[in-house]
Amino acid sequence: MKLNYHGKIHEDRYLTSDSESLPGLGSCIDSSVLLQGDNACIMRSLLQHHELAGRVDLVYIDPPFATNTVFRIGDERTSTISSQLSDKIAYHDVMQGSEFLEFIRERLILLRELMSAQGSIYLHIDYKIGHYIKIIMDEVFGIQNFRNDIARIKCNPKNFSRKGFGNIKDLILFYTKTNNFIWHEPRVPISESDLSKLYSKISKDGRKYTTVPVHAPGETINGVTSKPWRGVFPPKGRHWRCDPIELDKLDAAGLIEWSKKGNPRRINYADDAIARGKKLQDIWDFKDMAYPDYPTQKNLGMLETIVHASSNENSIVLDCFCGSGTLLVASEKLGRRWIGIDSSDHAIDVAKKRLDGVGIFSKGYVEAKYPV
Ligand SMILES: C[S@@+](CC[C@H](N)C(=O)[O-])C[C@H]1O[C@@H](n2cnc3c(N)ncnc32)[C@H](O)[C@@H]1O
Repeated sequence: MKLNYHGKIHEDRYLTSDSESLPGLGSCIDSSVLLQGDNACIMRSLLQHHELAGRVDLVYIDPPFATNTVFRIGDERTSTISSQLSDKIAYHDVMQGSEFLEFIRERLILLRELMSAQGSIYLHIDYKIGHYIKIIMDEVFGIQNFRNDIARIKCNPKNFSRKGFGNIKDLILFYTKTNNFIWHEPRVPISESDLSKLYSKISKDGRKYTTVPVHAPGETINGVTSKPWRGVFPPKGRHWRCDPIELDKLDAAGLIEWSKKGNPRRINYADDAIARGKKLQDIWDFKDMAYPDYPTQKNLGMLETIVHASSNENSIVLDCFCGSGTLLVASEKLGRRWIGIDSSDHAIDVAKKRLDGVGIFSKGYVEAKYPV
């Protein structure tokens, strides 16, 4: 499936057009870097002159969303760092329709080439344009590498007079370069209400627990999980959740509860669940600050979650629309090397102040500006 629109050009053109080497960077990048300029020109140069092809393990981008808005610094919704810069334009978000789609597509093609075989990309976008971007990402990265469409709750409920449902979410599209990607399972604490709802039984030794079926829907043909266990077949239309040998082991460990009628169920203890935490699902509640340092600054905790899940300590992490540098701050805090790119003077100023706040200046990083 492909999205066709006026002005869509062959991807080879984006990869083979000439670029200049970035003065001051050397042939390869071995420390964190903050670069100012147009991200397509800079990324082409990183690929062609600075040995960065296939080396980036994690990309997060939060590009303009085609909102037809000029974002300013210094209004009442930005905080003290930015108000020192007083009522200046932070950046323009005025590209529309197919021109916007092609702007994003060019950058996605370059990002794919920069990504390593174990790399991931997270693209933050809104509900108005996000579904077009999903199709472009399917084309660029392959639909088989689509992992999640994360609904991010961005603010408290609003009371607009506009007809229709209130919009409190945006979306993050998560793709990987291949099937073999870096993944450190993010786990979150189980809430007290989940614990009391789910773990209502008490064992003889006073532990809270619940039970779940040891069979699941669907029959397997000739597989071990459709064979009898302890002389009993799984119920019609179902199969055992695991090999009967594993069910024997669970029973020997006291983790199977037998009903009076002889039906087995798996025992899950609340204290084990508390120690393990709960798998993070695809609806995230990470609201943005009411008074950010930069107009579209994203939630730092959300970006720490992404960096932790999808990169290693020695990974290079890239944000080519870095704005106030939230991904860079998260990466610095978690000990990753990072590359930040933005074309806006104010973005770079705010990013530098925030990076200073996490001690980057004591370690040093390369900073450079290129003509836009
Ligand atoms: C939505 S903001 C990013 C906000 C960021 N995630 C944060 O937490 O602060 C988008 C940024 O993209 C930058 N930008 C837009 N077009 C660009 C381009 N062609 N090259 C580099 N940066 C660009 C803007 O200057 C703006 O800072």
